[in-house]
Amino acid sequence: MVRWHSSIPTPKSRVPQVSILRPGRPRISVAHQSSNNAPCPVLSTFFCRKGGKAQLFLYSFVLFLLLVTRLTAQNADPAWLRYPSHSGGTDSKYRVHLLGSEALEQSAAQELQRGIDGLPSAEFLSLGNVTTRTTIGTVKEVQEAYPSLAIPSDLGLDGYWLYRAYFQNQFQLIVAGADDSGVLYGVYALLRLLATRQDIEHLNLRSNPAFKIRWVDEWDNPDGSIERGYAGRSIFFEGGNVREDLAPVAEYGRLLASIGINGLNVNNVNAAPQLIDTVHLKQIARIADALRPWGVHLAMSVAIASPQTIGGLPTYDPLDPAVKAWWAAKTKEIYELIPDFAGFTVKADSEGQPGPASFGRTPADAANTLAAALAPHGGVVLYRAFVYNHHLDWHDPKADRARAAYDIFHPLDGQFLPNVIVQTKEGPIDFQAREPVSPLFDGLQKTSQAMEVQITQEYTGQQRHLVYLAPMWKQVLDFDLRANNESTPVKEILEGKSFHQPLGGIVGVAGIGRDRWLNSPLALANLYAFGRLAWDPDLDPAQIAEEWTRQTISTDPQVVATVEKMLMQSWPAYEDYTGPLGMQTLTDITGSHYGPNIESSERNGWGQWHDADAKGVGKDRSVATGSGYAGQYPPEMAKQYESPSTTPDALLLFFHHVPYTYKLHSGKTVIQHIYDSHYEGAAQAANLLDEWSTLKQKIDPSLYEDIRSRLDYQAGHAIVWRDAIVQYFLKLSSIPDEKGRAGHYPGRLEAEDARLTGYKVIDITPWEDASRGKAILCPFPKEPSNEAGTKVTGLSPYINRAETSGASAPEGMRTCTAEWTYTGQPGRYNIAIQYFDLPGGTARFTLAINNKPVSTWQADANLPSTRPNGDNSTRHTIQSVDLSPGDIVSIQGTPDASDPAALDYIELTIGPNGTASPTTH
Ligand code: GCU
Repeated sequence: MVRWHSSIPTPKSRVPQVSILRPGRPRISVAHQSSNNAPCPVLSTFFCRKGGKAQLFLYSFVLFLLLVTRLTAQNADPAWLRYPSHSGGTDSKYRVHLLGSEALEQSAAQELQRGIDGLPSAEFLSLGNVTTRTTIGTVKEVQEAYPSLAIPSDLGLDGYWLYRAYFQNQFQLIVAGADDSGVLYGVYALLRLLATRQDIEHLNLRSNPAFKIRWVDEWDNPDGSIERGYAGRSIFFEGGNVREDLAPVAEYGRLLASIGINGLNVNNVNAAPQLIDTVHLKQIARIADALRPWGVHLAMSVAIASPQTIGGLPTYDPLDPAVKAWWAAKTKEIYELIPDFAGFTVKADSEGQPGPASFGRTPADAANTLAAALAPHGGVVLYRAFVYNHHLDWHDPKADRARAAYDIFHPLDGQFLPNVIVQTKEGPIDFQAREPVSPLFDGLQKTSQAMEVQITQEYTGQQRHLVYLAPMWKQVLDFDLRANNESTPVKEILEGKSFHQPLGGIVGVAGIGRDRWLNSPLALANLYAFGRLAWDPDLDPAQIAEEWTRQTISTDPQVVATVEKMLMQSWPAYEDYTGPLGMQTLTDITGSHYGPNIESSERNGWGQWHDADAKGVGKDRSVATGSGYAGQYPPEMAKQYESPSTTPDALLLFFHHVPYTYKLHSGKTVIQHIYDSHYEGAAQAANLLDEWSTLKQKIDPSLYEDIRSRLDYQAGHAIVWRDAIVQYFLKLSSIPDEKGRAGHYPGRLEAEDARLTGYKVIDITPWEDASRGKAILCPFPKEPSNEAGTKVTGLSPYINRAETSGASAPEGMRTCTAEWTYTGQPGRYNIAIQYFDLPGGTARFTLAINNKPVSTWQADANLPSTRPNGDNSTRHTIQSVDLSPGDIVSIQGTPDASDPAALDYIELTIGPNGTASPTTH
């Protein structure tokens, strides 16, 4: 039986990570082994302790596993588990002494040996100075081996103790796990200490995880796509089936184990029902097998309508006896294939998913039917509170999507079976750059709860922007809801401390894919930080950032300090240039969720409104005059949020509709804050690039360039965001920017003002995504065709071919030109070109001065949207170009397939932040 819902007692209170490290000089161990305690090399543990044929088999099996793991490791990105050098050497005297024989202990022993063998020489020496042997095992095994050792008695499920002790004439490091998984987590903790160069001479560290549920959710579909995934295709599925090659799954399991993750929900919450048919379950059991050596239990999303869609029943009413029996039988079938199956995740009555509401039943009815089926096997149901009506009437001031979770779930508190956990997103809307903490965490005091956060950056830059999310999660975890007028930080609710619930924890929507897990190297800091906070929410995000950097990038002090600083400033910067004051991410909410599109969230049924008009902005959620959402909080918080004067600036527009001239606590008006924060945020994004550039000499060149080009892109896209939101609110409010920036772009030469050959002026939708709402594109001379010569239609519906002006070029390929005459001061300028990089083709651009090419580049990024807009508006900057009055500056664009080489403007600047003010003809 899986332990989620088993008889293993919960530790009364969490023991925080305590490290007692006293200063002292390293001592070299000169201990001798007694013959009956000779050190056992990790792979021969069984021979040493037991011997026999079974052990021989196990030995071979472990050896095989080790080889497989090592082969796999060569292909997969090792993320933070870099054991690159073998200077310590497999032939070293250092040995791992494994006491037990459980599979997880075997994994732990292998991993420790592998880690030690790979330690760079400095770390290896410091370890060697302290000890030549590490003994690992469960508390019981360690106690048997060393009866006089005083092992802490307060280790709970998955907990561990790391200790340096003098035994049998030698110093040893002891890793004692409360259970076999504790051994594995303890080993990773030790490796972390070594890799981050902590003092281990006086090691005495005990640690229990805060949360029982520490899961990642994958939103993978059977066809291999990943909902809201930005790192390529699924490592689990392809073409409707589980992939043959599950080596990356095992590697992922290893990464997850190293940060203490104990569950993985493998498929999209918008669940494909067929995944639980018998054929697919057999395949999915292979995924569970790949994860098992790492203590990561498999869970699955299930569609509530499955009894009907795949079971052939006439109904899926959760209270129908036949439906209950169907779920019970299906669950039994799953456990026969996957004995350590963790449970089900459910999205129902949400965004078009069927649910119990179709039969007048409640989420508790549905959750309990599944929970009853899982209970005999020890599994749990994570029932998502993300249930809302997306056909709201935006005319109705009382209508409010933010209210939905509390309105629906709070009345059900106390009705859920003990193995149901209600899983609630951290905020009431949907992973926005900033939201208040969901009041439902207070609203369910008789129900176990898990908080859902997103590691995949759906609304926070989709891994193209550096946004380190740990500070946001930490704010939520620490947030004191003041439930029952007492201190109730969210983390203590999830731990089960506040309301004494048995289960609970945190779930991260991971979105990992085949492309280096999360595609962007720095985005992996989010996966790492998620695991670390899931284990210990008291950790400081800056400390986690430092730890991650040391393990992943470099231990050089300048690198560590710089990367930590960059990570820590990234979320505030992103919030500033996307959606400040609690307006949420002002992105295209019905499409890509990526670039700016302010009105996409207004006047439709989705309920992400910010109610901007000519006079003011913000959604009134007060009890007195608005939707009443503020009243869902416990009294102290409700009172604070009820009035604009007591609502924190960062959330003002989430709770209140105020005039643009309303004065914030900061003393600024709302409109001035909107202008300022966007300029400041974009400047901070540029600063990320500057910071990284200082590390050029200290970073592996290919990693340096990879991250540099991403940060360069981000700095450009932050300007797209800045200008979109600033010009939108300038137009809407008609209130000028007191610093004179909004609407004035010195040095900017609009494409639509240029002399155009072939290029055609178009309106951009939404208008704010282009400078002054207009851009130019190079129409195709004929419909593009594919390799077979078939006409490809519908690629660029915005191109009206009838209006194209002719230009002579080879058939199927032509160029267009935009040119300006420079009439400003002579000088040396940087030239930024803002163009639209559309998918489905690789347009080319050349910038020339007086017909002499200066720079040529390709629009080959992979960005959303098939039309030119803020999703794909991209900046290319050319440094140090000499210009004199009368010079002809031109851009030649060559379209390719469905990419029409569209252009917004060019901008001349001096130095990083300076501007020039040329005039043009
Ligand atoms: C967001 C996301 C969807 C997802 C949903 C959910 O709305 O855009 O793709 O299905 O959240 O969490 O269920």
